[in-house]
Amino acid sequence: MSRGIINWSQLRCYSSLPELPHCQYKTPIYQGPDYETVKLTRLAPSERPYYKKPLLIHEGHGQWLWDHTGRRYLDMFAGIVTVGVGHSHPKIVEALSKQISKLGNTTVIYMHPQYHEYVEKLKTKLPEKLNVVYLVNSGSEANELAFLIAKLYTGAQEIISLQNGYHGGTLATQAATGLSVAKYPVPQANGFTHIMNPDVYKGPWGGSQCRDCPVSHGKNCPCIGNNCQAADNYFTQLQNAFKYSLPSGKPIAAFIAESIQGIGGIVQYPKTYLSKVYDFVRSKGGICIADEVQTGFGRTGENFWGFQGHNVVPDIVTMAKAIGNGFPLGAVVTTQEIAQVLNKAMRVNTFGGNPLACAVGSAVLDIIEEEKLQENCFIVGTHLLHRLSTLMLDYPTIIGDVRGKGLMIGVELIADVETKEPMAVEQVLDIFEDIKDMGVLIGKGGVHGNILRIKPPMCVTKEDADFTVEIIKKGVENHRDKYIKNKESVYFTAV
Ligand SMILES: Cc1ncc(COP(=O)(O)O)c(C=O)c1O
Repeated sequence: MSRGIINWSQLRCYSSLPELPHCQYKTPIYQGPDYETVKLTRLAPSERPYYKKPLLIHEGHGQWLWDHTGRRYLDMFAGIVTVGVGHSHPKIVEALSKQISKLGNTTVIYMHPQYHEYVEKLKTKLPEKLNVVYLVNSGSEANELAFLIAKLYTGAQEIISLQNGYHGGTLATQAATGLSVAKYPVPQANGFTHIMNPDVYKGPWGGSQCRDCPVSHGKNCPCIGNNCQAADNYFTQLQNAFKYSLPSGKPIAAFIAESIQGIGGIVQYPKTYLSKVYDFVRSKGGICIADEVQTGFGRTGENFWGFQGHNVVPDIVTMAKAIGNGFPLGAVVTTQEIAQVLNKAMRVNTFGGNPLACAVGSAVLDIIEEEKLQENCFIVGTHLLHRLSTLMLDYPTIIGDVRGKGLMIGVELIADVETKEPMAVEQVLDIFEDIKDMGVLIGKGGVHGNILRIKPPMCVTKEDADFTVEIIKKGVENHRDKYIKNKESVYFTAV
């Protein structure tokens, strides 16, 4: 191989790629502003597009997206786990158009029937005691409101969250977030304590058997019967926070956690961990908040809510993303007793619970049920997890872990099997771009950005899952050919 600049994409072999699964829907030709013009408006600081060659998407249908050139992509990320029931679902189009032609907004000062219909429907999905619903516009807003309620109810200030968790981009939710990459360098809001993430893959304790995932592999956890030692050890870290970090003898306001970490890279906790934490937090006067922004609405397959997989009942549940299939909608659900504290001041939310959002939210719940999307998450997700785990066995020096539940799946890319050192970010980005160029859109996450995140619209099929596995396999093989087989020549050409 000659030295000098190498265009790796020319070396990649795309000849044996499987065909994109069939789609009957035909999209019209793109007629918007040209690619370069659109790209210029995305130059605002921090408004970075996801890919080196950013995608200009103009139409979606089900699990499919089309770019400005007319190319079709299989969407395995759903706009960050948001388009739960599929793009441009006809029932949502109908519900929204019907509603906007009648009544668009009333703010909270009047009652309207859509609010009643939606809230009653949403309540049927929750444990009986969680029967007061506040509708908001985003996940960050939902978590902000949950923190406010927790502080008012307990009279305490401290909120405990997990390292590696993500809870939003506002000041308080950023402070609750345990990922440095998502924190701006300003003093963080007071009263937030992060405890050790109970990560059985990278953490000191546990093995993949400890988590609620259909595939298990790797190191064993020396558990005895139903007692999970990893859960106990991580739980001790929470107790240590009370011993060392928090004011002695003072109650806390709340504990918040995702049921499976999303942006943190699909981290699942040992099975009994959350129930131990909930009991302890309550014994310290705090309430427990389940952030279901990513895990809610059937995505984990076995259950409608992620917390059900941990056998806990939270005091507050926050939700967003798939709740509105992309329409701005979020919710905070709590008990009658806890909700009373909001009477202490006037609360106005101009858009929260508007008729449009309620009409969409209601249609989303109907579609999940009618199309059995929760079951689909279980069936297709379990199939996909099994298939991905065989890739992990075939490429153990590149894929360190495959985990998740339902259609909430993570694939951890590594540089070293023993130390689990993350794959260098530029290499991950290369694989990520390659997968997109081969027709599949996925996400990435984790504090080192080395976890591929697969969280598609919940209507994907086994055929879509198989196609995704083939494309990821090809991406991994291209990576191996570039960085591992030719390690020496890459080194020499780089210097
Ligand atoms: C678990 C979790 N909570 C909260 C949020 C914040 O939601 P939003 O972006 O709608 O404010 C996110 C966003 O990704 C999230 O993943």
